Amino acid sequence: MSTELEIVRTVADLRARVAAWHARGETVAMVPTMGAIHEGHMSLVQQANRLAGHVVASIFVNPLQFGPNEDFAAYPRGKARDAALLAQAGAALLFTPNANEMYPEGFATKVHVAGITGGLCGATRPDHFDGVATVVTKLLLQCTPDIAIFGEKDYQQLLVIQRLVRDLNVPIEIVGGPIVREPDGLALSSRNAYLSAEERETAPLLHAAIQQASHELAAGLSAEQALESARAALEAAGFRVDYLEARDPETLAPLSGPVASARILVAAFLGKTRLIDNVPVPPQA
Ligand code: PAJ
Repeated sequence: MSTELEIVRTVADLRARVAAWHARGETVAMVPTMGAIHEGHMSLVQQANRLAGHVVASIFVNPLQFGPNEDFAAYPRGKARDAALLAQAGAALLFTPNANEMYPEGFATKVHVAGITGGLCGATRPDHFDGVATVVTKLLLQCTPDIAIFGEKDYQQLLVIQRLVRDLNVPIEIVGGPIVREPDGLALSSRNAYLSAEERETAPLLHAAIQQASHELAAGLSAEQALESARAALEAAGFRVDYLEARDPETLAPLSGPVASARILVAAFLGKTRLIDNVPVPPQA
């Protein structure tokens, strides 16, 4: 695993490095991030290293995907620490464009993926997925990797990216990476840092509740029943539930009644912090 991490800030430099690898017949995997690197991101870099000869990570806190009252300004930024962790995980190149490199004056194009972006996170964050789809399309075209890896932590985002790559004939394979969790089940997220000590103690219930619902669905309970008890448990613990739903794992179509195969997805606030999580039905062992 490489500990030498080269940092490039322009699309021209990024393209030159990737073109040199491709000219030697070597493969490239990309892992886009917004920084605040944790073991979830690092696991994607490690997975990328198993799938390709070189790993390019990117850090860009994308203003387009934050709503007006969201945490763009407060989003944790620490490039030296992030670069060290990405190097440790085995990234060879780090692309950190500034806002002007990504969105030069006059930038006027938007990538909109219809349908799959409508519900769940798209319902309460109306421009979020346009922002994600636009920046990810740009990152993929800037880097032209063979493979790009995105976490299942942001399950709807992963499906949106798979859809846009198919729809636009982008010749890059999109691979999902499993959710990395704390020992108590809380999915790693940069936003966990916003939790108070007390909220941090409550937070693992988010995963516990959907995992319990997944077991109940697998045992034959209806989606309505399983989700109703999960919602009650979360509300009793102090969560404000944004959504809690069982969806088709590939199309995200809503499901009801007894279902053998599904994805349970949840977003809930603890205080001011919005946490998301998801699990498969049947549950993973
Ligand atoms: P960010 O939140 O930094 O996440 C970068 C990648 O890490 C995403 O693919 C995300 O799903 C994955 N990830 C986050 N937490 C994870 C965890 N606990 N386990 C496994 N993977 C995890 O998602 C974004 O940035 C942005 O929307 C981006 C795709 C970079 C576009 O701006």
